[in-house]
Amino acid sequence: MARLSVNVDHIATVRQARRVMEPDPVTGALLSEIAGADSITAHLREDRRHIQDRDLILLRKMVKTRLNLEMAATSEMQKIALEVKPDMITIVPEKRQELTTEGGLDVKTNKDYLKKYIETIKDSGIKVNLFVDGEPDQIKAAHMVNATGVEIHTGRYAELKNEKEIESELAKIHNAVMLAAKLKLNVHAGHGLDYRNIKRIAEIKEISEFAIGFSIIARSLFVGIEKAVREMKELIK
Ligand code: PXP
Repeated sequence: MARLSVNVDHIATVRQARRVMEPDPVTGALLSEIAGADSITAHLREDRRHIQDRDLILLRKMVKTRLNLEMAATSEMQKIALEVKPDMITIVPEKRQELTTEGGLDVKTNKDYLKKYIETIKDSGIKVNLFVDGEPDQIKAAHMVNATGVEIHTGRYAELKNEKEIESELAKIHNAVMLAAKLKLNVHAGHGLDYRNIKRIAEIKEISEFAIGFSIIARSLFVGIEKAVREMKELIK
């Protein structure tokens, strides 16, 4: 069964609306683990719009499963990753004005930079995944820069309404997953996954982990975070 990494950024988004102490993403992470989350994801953004440095430090101390730090490939973030030592980092593109991550990383045109960047982080024992669109060229480039794995961007699949387009996007994701698995990359997937659209993606057995945030945190407002996590785990199963 694929693992579930719960992204706690959106708990921090609510907290930052008031810039107070609660709701605390660290508490949310620990309750998610109790409910069966296999890993916790947090994205420390350059503008610190949700997760704060303090959250990351506490998450590292408290998370008992695995901590995945999402970050841009900047020197500031590299320094933080080397200090905090999450179990894994996921490199994502980051533009200040976007509401969320809009698309995959362009690994192909940044191969030299990323190869060096990844090497430094892997040397300290941290796994490095790259968030990419389901494009064969980007998957091959991720392999060339020695990433541990890829997280395939499912945002477009999640947005589609037309059945034919959904099928075609699923086929594209499936092919990308198979290529990544053939290249011996760890294969994760995420972005925009919810309680409805997870089922078809979870049928792709080669995906070993799903990173899901918004839908779980949104649902937890009404049913509590433990139930929201358990329900998602059940759907993945
Ligand atoms: N994976 C990556 C790389 C992301 O940037 C995000 C959003 O922070 C997610 C997964 C989770 O997406 P969502 O919050 O839509 O579930």
